[in-house]
Amino acid sequence: MGFSGFFSAAVMLIFFVGFFMAVPEVVAANHGGVTRHYKFSIRMKNITRLCRTKSIVAVNGKFPGPRVVAREGDRLVVKVVNHVSNNITIHWHGIKQLRSGWADGPAYITQCPIRTGQSYVYNFTITGQRGTLFWHAHFSWLRATVYGPLIILPRRNESYPFLKPYKQVPILFGEWFNADPEAVINQSLQTGAGPNVSDAYTLNGLPGPLYNCSAKDTFKLKVKPGKTYLLRLINAALNDELFFRIANHSFTVVEADASYVKPFETDILVIAPGQTTNVLLKTKSPAPNATFFMLARPYATGMGTFDNTTVAGILEYENPSTSSLKNAPLLKPVLPAFNATNVVANFSNKFRSLATTKFPANVPQKVEKKFFFTVGLGSNPCPKNQTCQGPNGTKFAASMNNISFALPSTALLQSYFFSKSNGVFTTDFPDFPLHPFNYTGNPPNNTHVINGTTKVEVIPFNTSVEVVLQDTSILGAESHPLHLHGYNFYVVGQGFGNFDPKNDPPKFNLVDPVERNTVGVPSGGWVAIRFQADNPGVWLMHCHFDVHLSWGLRMAWVVLDGKLPNQKLPPPPSDLPKC
Ligand code: C2O
Repeated sequence: MGFSGFFSAAVMLIFFVGFFMAVPEVVAANHGGVTRHYKFSIRMKNITRLCRTKSIVAVNGKFPGPRVVAREGDRLVVKVVNHVSNNITIHWHGIKQLRSGWADGPAYITQCPIRTGQSYVYNFTITGQRGTLFWHAHFSWLRATVYGPLIILPRRNESYPFLKPYKQVPILFGEWFNADPEAVINQSLQTGAGPNVSDAYTLNGLPGPLYNCSAKDTFKLKVKPGKTYLLRLINAALNDELFFRIANHSFTVVEADASYVKPFETDILVIAPGQTTNVLLKTKSPAPNATFFMLARPYATGMGTFDNTTVAGILEYENPSTSSLKNAPLLKPVLPAFNATNVVANFSNKFRSLATTKFPANVPQKVEKKFFFTVGLGSNPCPKNQTCQGPNGTKFAASMNNISFALPSTALLQSYFFSKSNGVFTTDFPDFPLHPFNYTGNPPNNTHVINGTTKVEVIPFNTSVEVVLQDTSILGAESHPLHLHGYNFYVVGQGFGNFDPKNDPPKFNLVDPVERNTVGVPSGGWVAIRFQADNPGVWLMHCHFDVHLSWGLRMAWVVLDGKLPNQKLPPPPSDLPKC
């Protein structure tokens, strides 16, 4: 059975047999939900793409990894066993992890990595969200091959706020490197240059026919005429936002980052790493005498090189007269130029929360604490006796408020919880840039970032927070998909140029702004987000481009416990890995 066969077969199973295949063990009810047990075995796997065979880190021998399916209100218990030589952690991207921060997964933030031969059980309940998310490794660049869908269905007796789809199909975008992705990032960190770009993009693990020696590795979506399909799109690529289009077809966007949105029509989609989007695809009727390319290729704004290739899948109608399909034309969609920022801005402006009584938009109307963080690139001086290949002989770096995050060697959450933060982190992450400048104007001559101690931002339980994320033009303005762990936030405003604290806030949407976990900071622009800090723990916020993450474009929030027992983070599980 081919991979597409596997996918449709799995979809059928979900529909007709329930979760038997995907979920080996379902145990008694809790809070109206059930507990679903999974096991992830991390092992090396040989795999051939683009005519080269290599060994990748994979979960349960699958690439992309296994599908995790649950309903809103369920508890997930996932035992991860590490059989490879790399350290690893798994992150449940977009899961709010309400009072279960120990299960969030980012290495050295909420846990020490799982070492070779060791295991860790991630245990968390899915509260107040439903839709498509994904899981991925959160250690170095291992997520290049360690990722898979995380599908949250509505509660058993609840339905979607849209037409019930005939079938649902996960579509995962990935990024394929012929080299070992760990070697790619390690070399970049060593030389100071930008990392080598990927060799292909993938659609459900398959690069498709537009690459050399790849035609047999093509994702095919076989559809019936006149039906509605729910496509669960996930951008698991490392470093690239993507445009996506299917020839002669349009979509209805219904959900983003596991929150329902007001449905809107579009024939082009833009999806950043870390983002997920559910769209309805209504197939034509009668079946057209053609097949249709679905294509994705990057939206890129940085100054550096990028993988400017196109992944293709094929949308094929099940046609009783298959003979006629043989000569049927294969239609190709036209994608925007790689730097079509206007298309991206138009698209992201269309997102609104559903904001109904059942699915309200609980936007903080008043803000207790305001933050302003710059995000962007920078440099580090070249160490003595070395030559560096970054900008002007320096090393590339990245920062927030010019602080390049220093990854600690022990987990922040543990040291915070057991009051052992001395020598691990300091609480002086700046609320505002220490040296304001014209962020999107001519870049300053000094591009050096600040290194040093691990700095966190501490906020009391239940603070209403606003963060303005401002791109800088240092070493080139660039769009940055910013991701917050432990929360969803509301995107109350965005614009180009420098944020204007006087004239921009009156224009904020406090009624039905989109609720997300990852938002693109516009290239040369800003975005304002709000959230209620009602989840105690230590939460990473970072650019979901792995290259920028590796260069230090991340920071951590410490959200303190509240007074009531149900406002406190419980102690860690006994198998929490040690550093
Ligand atoms: Cu999907 Cu911290 O990441």
